[in-house]
Amino acid sequence: MGTIEPVDDDRSRAFGAQLLGMLTGHTLTMLIGIGHRTGLFVAAAQAPVTCAELAERAGLTERYVREWLGAMVTGGIMEYDEPGGRYSLPAEHAVFLTGERASNVGPVTETLQTLSTIMPQVERCFRDGGGVPFGEYAAVAGDSLGATWRYIYPEKLLDGFVGAVPGLTERLAEGARVLDLGCGSGLAINLLAEAFPRSEFVGVDIAADAVAFAEAERARIGLPNASFAQGDAAELPREPAFDVIMAFDAIHDQHSPDVVLRKVREALAPGGVFMMVETKFSRDVARNIGNPHAPMIYSISTLFCVPASLADGGAALGAVWGTELAGEMLAEAGFGRVRLLDSPRPQNCIFVCEV
Ligand SMILES: C[S@@+](CC[C@H](N)C(=O)[O-])C[C@H]1O[C@@H](n2cnc3c(N)ncnc32)[C@H](O)[C@@H]1O
Repeated sequence: MGTIEPVDDDRSRAFGAQLLGMLTGHTLTMLIGIGHRTGLFVAAAQAPVTCAELAERAGLTERYVREWLGAMVTGGIMEYDEPGGRYSLPAEHAVFLTGERASNVGPVTETLQTLSTIMPQVERCFRDGGGVPFGEYAAVAGDSLGATWRYIYPEKLLDGFVGAVPGLTERLAEGARVLDLGCGSGLAINLLAEAFPRSEFVGVDIAADAVAFAEAERARIGLPNASFAQGDAAELPREPAFDVIMAFDAIHDQHSPDVVLRKVREALAPGGVFMMVETKFSRDVARNIGNPHAPMIYSISTLFCVPASLADGGAALGAVWGTELAGEMLAEAGFGRVRLLDSPRPQNCIFVCEV
């Protein structure tokens, strides 16, 4: 018989408190999602209100709003002025809960909701192996899988991501042929095409609905220098060649990332550059301990990146494949000069790769 280790009661209590915080966070996250989608936060941000006024302002049923406010106040998201019976959303909190800005966590709650819906399928994979086809996520997600980036691009793409790469803004301003691989719903391409009219932009993605959305947006804005095509990155042809190839958060999800990186290198025109925006973690879990972004990205990777890739026998690198492995794979693909730069988001980095 092994010896029974004594339980350190203080440590146990502290962990219990930590778990309570996590479970509370989960429930509040669900209600933050409701506040985001129903417009409650936007309505509350205008001025302190009673429950009845808030319900009316947002056009919602008061009984539900009252319960929701209870969670918001006790959860430290909103404030309650007892004598006046008024609820308020501090401006410092509204920054994270309202508006089309990168700091708004509302879109992230949409992504998490989609992942919750798909959890039974992922649990089945834990037991039986295999994966969950991307189509199953898309069926419940609509646009929400890419929602996290919806407000990030308008704020951070031009000055932030593009601006971080030395010489890239000037190159795009002069005129270059640019490809966005795994372009999703085309947000980046459409913003870039508008900002750099002398450059020509092409977006490629394997998801037909994303490409259709991108093209509709392009047409709505009226951009003659952008186009979109459905295609598999692993079948990227050498011609036509591109001066700049970009991939935002798209390489680790590839079925065959090694093939894709080689195809990217082959499709670069002489002097061309590949800008790969990826997650900024180590492949070594020990080195990710203490990184505040790591638990969430590992979790999203467990619920999406790994099962979606394994569904069709892919490499399943996962979102935390690590900058070390990324660097090795870029070298194997034939990139002789690779620079690793910080990005405007601490959980991302930018690989600037040249042949
Ligand atoms: C995490 S999303 C990023 C989308 C977009 N770059 C953005 O930042 O919003 C990854 C994208 O890669 C696309 N993708 C996955 N496998 C692909 C493949 N083999 N060929 C082209 N696109 C692919 C997915 O359809 C998805 O749109």
